[in-house]
Amino acid sequence: MIAKIIFSSFHFIGHVKNVKYASRILKSDFRTWTSLHYPVIPFKLSDIGEGIKEVTVKRSFLKPHQKLSQFEDVCEVESDKASVTITSRFDGLVKNVYFKEGDVITVGSTLCDIETGNESADPGNIIVEKELLMPAHENKPIIEEKTKFTHTERNQESAHIQKYPSEQTAEEVHSDKLLATPAVRRIARENNVNLHLLKGTGRGGRIMKEDILAYLNQPPKERFTPVFAEEAEISELVSGYQKVMVRTMTESNRIPTLGLSDEIDVTDLEILRKSIKTVLAVEGIKLSFLAFLVKAVSLSLVKYPILNAKFEGHDTIKYQNSHNIGIAVDTESGLVVPSIKDVTRLNIRQIAKEIQRLQKLADQNKLSIADTAYGTFTISNIGSIAGTVVKPLILPPQVAIVGVGRIRSLPRYDATDQIHKRLVVNVSWAADHRIIDGGTTARFSNLVKQYLENPGLLIVDG
Ligand code: COA
Repeated sequence: MIAKIIFSSFHFIGHVKNVKYASRILKSDFRTWTSLHYPVIPFKLSDIGEGIKEVTVKRSFLKPHQKLSQFEDVCEVESDKASVTITSRFDGLVKNVYFKEGDVITVGSTLCDIETGNESADPGNIIVEKELLMPAHENKPIIEEKTKFTHTERNQESAHIQKYPSEQTAEEVHSDKLLATPAVRRIARENNVNLHLLKGTGRGGRIMKEDILAYLNQPPKERFTPVFAEEAEISELVSGYQKVMVRTMTESNRIPTLGLSDEIDVTDLEILRKSIKTVLAVEGIKLSFLAFLVKAVSLSLVKYPILNAKFEGHDTIKYQNSHNIGIAVDTESGLVVPSIKDVTRLNIRQIAKEIQRLQKLADQNKLSIADTAYGTFTISNIGSIAGTVVKPLILPPQVAIVGVGRIRSLPRYDATDQIHKRLVVNVSWAADHRIIDGGTTARFSNLVKQYLENPGLLIVDG
């Protein structure tokens, strides 16, 4: 570049006695020299939208005196609503930087000054009308002459700046991959236009002011006027059972969990249940499949107490004497998990009565803290609504849960390869794999299966 300047300057250097010295002057002072003649523009943080008044600078990409190209990153800023990257509108030289990382800056304040002349541009393309100044180290001027170089780009440069009049911003904001100037965004907001539906004609698909004006100039019929997404949303605070679910399920997701599913044939159990159900119905007791499952789980926990333990992620496993079997209940207010206390002491009739009581209270939103607390193991019988296989999540500090799918009639082979219509249900166990291994879970599952497939055992052991 310097070489070209010197070359272009030969006609003037020819007049200089000390040519060698003059070339040194040209080299050493070219920067000062050109900078004196280019406009310096204060580059301001303009309206980012969303009502944001101030932002914090997360990252700065600027250094004083660095060259900056159009669309090059200036800084990354964030507010409580958005995080955006501010990019330059101009090619130029950064003069002063007025912010640093961590600063809180308000909309409208100057980020830096940009000298819009392009030092790296081909000098043959720059119109330079300048006075050669003497080098700073000289006492008296050696050269004092007005020089004109022929340039073409300066006019284009000004035209380029004109393209972005002052009421538009000197910066570009891009977030959510949508590139548009804040001015364009403001017009969009004022006219309720979804910018995502516009095709930008600017560099990299940027939506220019002309694009949005052209869109707005269309007859309304040809325009699609969407409603802003946030206006179409309804906000609701998480509350009640949902609030508990947010906390426990988030915590649960951190547990390394082992999953295991199996199929249980409940044909014989259903025959038994139906035969007793009518008898108990006279007493107002509803005998469902769940009551048998609760008993089968409790009897199996006697042999595998680790699945009834409490573990809070430290170094102690607490084995619990009571089998307080929680049952997930679907209510109008959401999911709640009351527990049937001390199931080892209850028979199936009592369990059925307790399920009924808890279900009724849950429906009325009247469960006590005692009802919902102290669970040691959970059953989620989603199959009473729908579903074949479920992936349940452990309720910490409990260490195991079972999800039960819908009982279905399916063809199954017997021991002599004969096909029969059978009632089968899928059970899916989830266990805290930090303290329970797969073998233990599988053996426990087998025992529950044995109880449910041979319901007489429930009577014998229960
Ligand atoms: N598959 C098919 N039928 C089932 C079944 C299953 N998995 N579980 C129960 N049933 C049957 C019952 O045996 C009963 O049959 P019947 O009418 O012949 O007597 C019938 O479905 C109705 O039972 P229900 O009133 O639901 O009682 P229940 O004791 O089985 O279940 C609740 C009680 C409270 C657990 C249940 O109503 C519920 O809320 N389930 C949803 C649990 C849930 O949402 N889990 C997901 C948590 S993320």
